[in-house]
Amino acid sequence: MKLVTIIGARPQIIKAAALSRAIRNHYANQIQEVIVHTGQHYDDNMSQVFFDELQIPRPAYNLHVGSASHGVQTTRMTEGIEALLIKEQPDYIVLYGDTNSTLAGAIAAAKIHVPIVHIEAGLRSFNKSMPEEINRIVCDHCSTLLFTPTKAGLENLKREGFSIDEGGPSTLRQAQDSGTAKPTIDNPKVYHCGDIMYDNSLYFADIAEEKTDIIKRLALSDQPYILATIHRDSNTDHPERLSAIFRSIIKLSEECQVVLPLHPRTAKLLKTNLDENLQKQIFSCQNIKLIPPVSFLEMIALERHAQLIMTDSGGVQKEAYFFKKPGIILRPETEWVEIVETGNAILADSDEMRIMQAWQHFKDNPPTVFPEIFGDGHAAEFMLEKILQVKQ
Ligand code: UD1
Ligand code: UDP
Repeated sequence: MKLVTIIGARPQIIKAAALSRAIRNHYANQIQEVIVHTGQHYDDNMSQVFFDELQIPRPAYNLHVGSASHGVQTTRMTEGIEALLIKEQPDYIVLYGDTNSTLAGAIAAAKIHVPIVHIEAGLRSFNKSMPEEINRIVCDHCSTLLFTPTKAGLENLKREGFSIDEGGPSTLRQAQDSGTAKPTIDNPKVYHCGDIMYDNSLYFADIAEEKTDIIKRLALSDQPYILATIHRDSNTDHPERLSAIFRSIIKLSEECQVVLPLHPRTAKLLKTNLDENLQKQIFSCQNIKLIPPVSFLEMIALERHAQLIMTDSGGVQKEAYFFKKPGIILRPETEWVEIVETGNAILADSDEMRIMQAWQHFKDNPPTVFPEIFGDGHAAEFMLEKILQVKQ
């Protein structure tokens, strides 16, 4: 069987590590994977570092699309992916998550009838002003095999009309088979399978401790610190929202160190969207460590040792939960509703007061119970099993 896997943005490169590892370890004789990098992310620390560190096979192709407006970026990718699908003739295209690379893969494949496997299907923010919400809805509705990481994802797909076998228990790993006919775009199959990012976090956690010295390098060994990331356009592109988040970071830094690996989008927009005074305060504050994007092993080491994680990232929200850390979510809503429902994360949006209240809440009530809602760390093997099975 041949799979063409599309990656492009940082989190997709990281997710691909889990699937490629499972192919290498268990299915090397049955599955050939051709990796296509769209080039959506291209800085070494947003792309190459992950190939070097996580043993991801080199992409067979790189479309080098780079940064551009949504329309231009997606169109360039779609054109490139279509040509490669025609050349490679895969059994399936594998798409991750909800970026423009996902959308381009979905459009290109669906129109020339290459069946789509969507990993991280069913997630919804119910906020269509997010580019990712449009991308994930389109991709889900063009897919043949949908692998959803959470029960909330499964429920969303049901609500949108996906046929799911109500007869079987909807426990994790239960195949939700809509009949016995071979799956197609018109008769898709939905599986609730656990989270592929959890596979990676479990697999790399101890390796990270061994192989990175970032905690020592940043002199954090005996220091409580907050780890923060910000990159959503809804925060970075709005001066008032970005300023409110940074004002709260300054307040937090009076009590605790704040470590902030800066996404290139944020690094650029800090300089235009914050006033000079705020910039001066941030850049001169001893307790705020603004650093370039870090590698995945460095990131999970930072997550594991943090007191609390504050983020607008989808992946980092979940990793906070995986490593049993309280999370402050810098968004008005989340697709990962379970982590909020269990009380381990608080939605604070970009509201200074809500951010400070959430910090106080978690200082007074550090969470201790993190139910298993993301599977058992073997989502990748489960997916590959199903992909092979339905093909027979
Ligand atoms: C993209 C995804 C988002 C995902 C994020 C992960 C879309 C619509 N958005 O957002 O869902 O959460 O990736 O990180 O697909 N840039 C660089 N170097 C790079 C990459 C980007 O400098 O290697 C800068 C450029 O100025 C670019 C900006 O970052 O214009 C935004 O990059 P882009 O890929 O368009 O969106 P992200 O914000 O990264
Ligand atoms: N990440 C990383 N280095 C960083 C910041 C994040 O390796 O400096 C990892 C993080 O651990 C997670 C993924 O990147 O696995 C999340 O990507 P991002 O926040 O860019 O996108 P999102 O998940 O919001 O789509």
